[in-house]
Amino acid sequence: MTAYLITSVSVVGAAPTDLLIRDGVVAEVGAGLSAPDATVIDGTGLVALPGLVDLHTHLREPGREDAETVESGSRAAALGGYTAVCAMANTSPVADTAGVVEQVWRLGREAGLVDVQPVGAVTVGLAGERLAELGAMADSAAQVRMFSDDGHCVADPLLMRRALEYVKAFDGIIAQHAEEPRLTEGAQMHEGEVSTRLGLIGWPAVAEEAIIARDVLLAEHVGSRLHVCHVSTAGSVEVLRQAKARGVRVTAEVTPHHLLLTDERAESYDPVFKVNPPLRTSADVTALRAALADGVIDIIATDHAPHAVEDKECEWAYARPGMLGLETALSIALDVLGPEWDLIAERMSRTPARIAGLTGHGVDPAPGAPANLTLVDPAVRRTIEPAELASRSRNTPYARMTLPGRIVATFLRGEPTVLDGKAVK
Ligand code: DOR
Ligand code: ZN
Repeated sequence: MTAYLITSVSVVGAAPTDLLIRDGVVAEVGAGLSAPDATVIDGTGLVALPGLVDLHTHLREPGREDAETVESGSRAAALGGYTAVCAMANTSPVADTAGVVEQVWRLGREAGLVDVQPVGAVTVGLAGERLAELGAMADSAAQVRMFSDDGHCVADPLLMRRALEYVKAFDGIIAQHAEEPRLTEGAQMHEGEVSTRLGLIGWPAVAEEAIIARDVLLAEHVGSRLHVCHVSTAGSVEVLRQAKARGVRVTAEVTPHHLLLTDERAESYDPVFKVNPPLRTSADVTALRAALADGVIDIIATDHAPHAVEDKECEWAYARPGMLGLETALSIALDVLGPEWDLIAERMSRTPARIAGLTGHGVDPAPGAPANLTLVDPAVRRTIEPAELASRSRNTPYARMTLPGRIVATFLRGEPTVLDGKAVK
């Protein structure tokens, strides 16, 4: 195994130091290190972060390998600075059995670019009718701890209660896609001034807020852990703020796109901006940014949602919702938060690793820590070219935008997955 000596690198924003990676761990940190056998990486101007952890990734395998595979999505993740991703269950077949979650887990191991932690479905076939085999998925080789019907809401309150109760036995967590389905029938975008003007059916903020309010009460009642996916409204933030103040065991994520883009993008009728939950108003964006800074929102998760050309380059109404995220998330975070490295490490690595229970991830580079880390060059600005992305899909909403920051290298257990900004395999 090659050793790597990274010189003059800032570890999570601290004064520059040297960092020696050997045998899968951070062997030494300090000034003037020497290791004659090591490959030297000049870290001048670079920032080392604990490898990023994405709690919300769609990898599309099995079933839609034309849009993404575990391998292509893993490569996109590594290039984005990630060392672990949680793969959502809305594949085909759905990841609702031990067999499917083990398949995804094994494909992740074979690709070897990031740790792929499968998320199990809450209900059979995401149909919202009966609980999936949560225990069997937890006991499988994939050791599933997080369950989600993402893409669909677990709308039935009794099923939601049972799921929350069930996962308590192994300290599991239910990640809810909060969308009251009766309030969003036929919805195409955020319900508001822009939807009225465009004549598109709206997805009201209350459809999200009502489910979050119900679920924090259920989680409180049964004493279980709830995670809220892709929070998108100012009202949701207030519901979460109150629940957290009462001590409810709830965590929440926001996506990069909900931190940056608004519903006005729909005026282009370009389906690349169609996403679920939809892009909201600038007042929502402001509230989400404030909540991310003050901790009411715990993490940034990408909701990386690759879609094939025929599912995206069509009429708005027929287009699937979702956008790419893995290869641009850190740049958006830098743009939105500025070079607040400790906050970025907290929201994109340490906390998501803790929520998902991914040991060995989310640990700052320090002697003895597993060498899961990424090197960022914050001084570079790059223009996003969809054709250059490693994802199999092209549906980035940031096409031709110039964004700050570039991932220079990523290490998974001491092995580089990205070097010089390029995937190693
Ligand atoms: O925009 C979305 N795309 N939202 C979801 O909840 C699901 C996802 C997908 O699977 O494409
Ligand atoms: Zn979702």
